[in-house]
Amino acid sequence: MLKLTQADFAVRRLELARKMGAHSIAIIATNAVSYRNSDVDYKYRADSSFYYLTGFPEPEAIAVIQTFDDADEYEYTLFCRERDPELEIWNGYREGLEGAKSAYHADASYAIDDFNEEVVELLSHAHKVYFRVGHDADFDIRITSIIQQHHLKLSLLQLDPIVDVMRLIKSDKEIGLMKKAAEISALAHTKAMESVRNGMMEYELEAELNYVFGKHGCVPAYGSIVGSGENGCILHYVENNKKIEDGQLVLIDAGCEYEYYASDITRTFPVNGVFSKEQRIIYQLVLDAQLAAIDAVRIGNPYRKPHDIVVRILTQGLLELGLLQGNLEDLIGDEAYRQFYMHGTGHWLGLDVHDVGGYKTKEGPRHYEAGMVVTIEPGIYISPQDTTVPEKWRGIGIRIEDDIVVTSEGPQVLTASVVKEIDHIEALMKSTANK
Ligand code: GLY
Ligand code: MN
Ligand code: MN
Repeated sequence: MLKLTQADFAVRRLELARKMGAHSIAIIATNAVSYRNSDVDYKYRADSSFYYLTGFPEPEAIAVIQTFDDADEYEYTLFCRERDPELEIWNGYREGLEGAKSAYHADASYAIDDFNEEVVELLSHAHKVYFRVGHDADFDIRITSIIQQHHLKLSLLQLDPIVDVMRLIKSDKEIGLMKKAAEISALAHTKAMESVRNGMMEYELEAELNYVFGKHGCVPAYGSIVGSGENGCILHYVENNKKIEDGQLVLIDAGCEYEYYASDITRTFPVNGVFSKEQRIIYQLVLDAQLAAIDAVRIGNPYRKPHDIVVRILTQGLLELGLLQGNLEDLIGDEAYRQFYMHGTGHWLGLDVHDVGGYKTKEGPRHYEAGMVVTIEPGIYISPQDTTVPEKWRGIGIRIEDDIVVTSEGPQVLTASVVKEIDHIEALMKSTANK
């Protein structure tokens, strides 16, 4: 199975050490467990940046990475839960302080409950402390009080900008994991297209997606959207509890997480397997915009270029259809397209579905570099209540979304194995219609 190893996490810690420089210390805590309801917690998922540097999957853990005279040599200390035979009967295995060292390659390990005491000694050797100021108010107070109580002379610096930029450029191994996530999600979307029938409930299609994710050891990377008909116009629709009717489109935005890496796909297809005239016209416009935007995901282009391309193509198309009236440049300048296209064209993708890295730098716009992964997801949403457009268009909601890696050979589409051309969707659905 494709998986990151401790050697991969060690490479990241070394890079962080070098970026911080000598006499520095980074302190990073993982997520807390989230309470759902009486005696029930949400399934635990580690914080992405903590995981990125440690690979450690348990809650209640804090990593400390420290340099001394030489930034090329770092010490890694992991604070975690101690072994507890009785609690492990209830809640499962814990690595404990030994496992932190043997399985997770910490140079030293301490009980999480001893953090406040033990971290003082570590901090006393540093000139700079990097932590995630503003992430968790209680943790900020905890660290700053320790520093004040012990009269430590330290500069406080933000850790996130360093780690976020590291996470923005994916290694070949990370791209491999993301490709795997993308392919499993593509299988799930294909299954949904094959399974849809008039009269089904949206949650039945969601169940098909979850089955494919689960079969491959994955969980959804975010709440799946299965919107039939006008529900496709609700950007964050997650109720998925309406009946799917003949003649409607279904918009599915769903992606799995594989070994902590996310995928994010949207497909829109006709319930009865054949696009109506109006559905076909709008779908083709969104697809044309998406293909042109994907082609602009190239090294050296500014991050916004795909969005600007989408806006121009959609506005031109809406103008030709009479859904917008006026002059093309004015409509773009006035953002008139926002009546039908009100979101951005994508986002970074990685350990988080909306991944870190930022879309601007101090110097100006960020430009694409090899190893970045971005989604391209234009759409058109014609509100069922929009009386400014003829009735035949109302309630059509379409988005098409793929995951793209920036490479020296041009854009690489990780999610290409689920069809999106009109003919291909109709052919796939026809072949499975009576099964
Ligand atoms: N599924 C979240 C998004 O497309 O951004
Ligand atoms: Mn997305
Ligand atoms: Mn999406």
